[in-house]
Amino acid sequence: MESQFPHAKIERFGKFYKAYKAGHVEFETEYSPKEFEKPSYSSTCRVVPPQDVPKRSNLTTPKGQIVLLHAIAHIEFSAIDLAIDGAYRFLHMPKKYYDDWLEVADDEIRHFLSLEKLLHELGAKYGDVEVHNALFEASQRTQTLLERMAVVPRYLEANGLDATPMILNKLKKTAKK
Ligand SMILES: [Fe+2]
Repeated sequence: MESQFPHAKIERFGKFYKAYKAGHVEFETEYSPKEFEKPSYSSTCRVVPPQDVPKRSNLTTPKGQIVLLHAIAHIEFSAIDLAIDGAYRFLHMPKKYYDDWLEVADDEIRHFLSLEKLLHELGAKYGDVEVHNALFEASQRTQTLLERMAVVPRYLEANGLDATPMILNKLKKTAKK
């Protein structure tokens, strides 16, 4: 049976990455990368403006936990897309550049799948909570290599990491209750 989104995509990447690591993938040197009009997840997730995304409220309730886990799963999913896009969109870079971004995509897939597993344990799935497309919009606005590398990994992802201690604290408090 053919997998549905997002697993069909994850399986396709897995096959590609295995072939890539085995040296079976050749680089095309002349092509124009496609422009994407909507994010890959728009078939599964309802995209709303950032202010309309449900707030992570009470972490002692399953609903609150689902909202938090879903928000993180969505960041991981967006990071998969951004890593693959970084490898796909920018031509004529050293091979190491592609090696690194594909490895990032593989890592982000692992992160996404572990969050998805937690969502499943709570009876939820990716796509159950409204999401925003801020990271997709950032990728739309950064179509040159310099802009992309400056804005996406160095600014947005770094900002995301800065929020981690706060989230961890909240979770620790919940665990103690
Ligand atoms: Fe991640």
